[in-house]
Amino acid sequence: MNIVTIGAGFVGSTHSAVLASFGHRVLAYDLNKERIADLASRVPERIDACIYEPGLSNLIKTHENLQFTADLTELYALSDTIDVIFLCLPTPAHELTLPDEQQHLFIAAKTIAVIIKKRNNGEQTKRIVIVNKSTVPIGTAEKLKIKFTEWGVRNFGIGSNPEFLVEGKAVQGSKNPDRIVLGVENEQDGIAMREVYSPFGDNKMILVCPSDAEAIKLLANFELFSTVVRTYQVMGRLCEFVPGLSFENVMRGVTSDARIPKWGHFTSLYSGGSCFEKDAKNLLHTVSQYSGFTPTTEFIKLVIAGNDQQLEHFYNRAKNEAHFSFTGKTVALLGTAFKQDTNDVRLSPALVLAEWLCRDGIKTIHVYDPQAAENFRKSFTGKPQEKHITVCSSVVEALNGTDAAIIATDWPEFKLIAPLFTMKPPYLLLDGRRSLAQHYEELHGKGLSILAVGSPYMGTAFRSL
Ligand SMILES: NC(=O)c1ccc[n+]([C@@H]2O[C@H](COP(=O)([O-])OP(=O)(O)OC[C@H]3O[C@@H](n4cnc5c(N)ncnc54)[C@H](O)[C@@H]3O)[C@@H](O)[C@H]2O)c1
Repeated sequence: MNIVTIGAGFVGSTHSAVLASFGHRVLAYDLNKERIADLASRVPERIDACIYEPGLSNLIKTHENLQFTADLTELYALSDTIDVIFLCLPTPAHELTLPDEQQHLFIAAKTIAVIIKKRNNGEQTKRIVIVNKSTVPIGTAEKLKIKFTEWGVRNFGIGSNPEFLVEGKAVQGSKNPDRIVLGVENEQDGIAMREVYSPFGDNKMILVCPSDAEAIKLLANFELFSTVVRTYQVMGRLCEFVPGLSFENVMRGVTSDARIPKWGHFTSLYSGGSCFEKDAKNLLHTVSQYSGFTPTTEFIKLVIAGNDQQLEHFYNRAKNEAHFSFTGKTVALLGTAFKQDTNDVRLSPALVLAEWLCRDGIKTIHVYDPQAAENFRKSFTGKPQEKHITVCSSVVEALNGTDAAIIATDWPEFKLIAPLFTMKPPYLLLDGRRSLAQHYEELHGKGLSILAVGSPYMGTAFRSL
């Protein structure tokens, strides 16, 4: 099939590469020329530095049937033969209250409407299915249909095929998805969409209408997000308050019930990334529009607030429980990606922690991340915090000369760093991921003070030292 993707970010580039691996001809368009140049270079190091997703650079390198462009004339040239257009645009939470014409999705849609209405010499004889992959409020596909019609596009279908990829496992997940939700308006478009995903066969497909598809995405993410937040706020907190409880034992016991999923039953300092919180706000927006102020809206708000509160609670425990002051100190910040296996720092807890550390008079932050340190550094370019940030190339370098260390990302390599904590006490380890949970007793025995999510504080009060 001839497929065009609009927006070549985490979703668009992965989706394009996976579709190309199925044998489709794919043209990925993005207005970010730098990003397109990196992806089109087919040089793995350049692609990884742009979007780090295990397996992505290899797919792009090996599939010549995938092309990238930042030039709209290439879309014009292809428009007579396009079967499906996927919209993979950003849908940030702040756009929820903006007029449509100021939202990335509708701006991009209008750009392509101008192109596709001229297809087949303006006759528009070839049917096109325009499919949204972005996470959007329920009813967006319906709105897009009205807009495309107003903009003069004919003989088209609107679909919703929400993306469920997990960053860090995006390629693997897209090649072996749990399900493919296809929201289409009629049988004809359903057939076209099934052809796009034909390598998976019909049993992975959930064929619904576009609004159902939009709702499925918002609700699935809210299930995941609320499980994570509930685990911090109830199981994790209980294990912090009640002496002698082991988070790992409690979690294992609870999740051994076949009805309770293992996923989401971990504790952490924050659930970051560009999706969970944003999509919960999106759901809240939709629910509020239909029902106003209800227990449902309050429940969604509580989950969002519970996530934000978790990060504050974690950071404030340094002051409230350890009586540790960051003023004038040097701290190692280990992990700047919002989670392992990505270089994405959107809504990463490390960004907020760095701001708070600077607000509280930190001298220097030694930053280390195997993939995302550069994106973290860029986030502070030109900002007052920049002068306090030193990017390091290893954990050893980051720990050198520090008074405290914060583990903020669940990179597997951080599970192995216990032997590096050879500093003379007093030293505070803040473990926001329980990466070193197997070593807390031993490290505490060596004189380290330990403040971990899901454990009571282990240490002496710093003010008395
Ligand atoms: N990242 C994820 O893990 C993930 C997972 C599932 C769903 N989603 C959803 O998918 C959507 C895209 O997310 P993402 O992470 O890929 O975002 P992203 O910011 O990484 O990528 C979006 C891309 O769109 C481009 N763009 C913006 N306006 C454009 C325009 N007018 N024309 C062409 N390109 C334009 C940007 O330059 C950017 O490269 C969002 O709705 C998100 O919620 C993301």
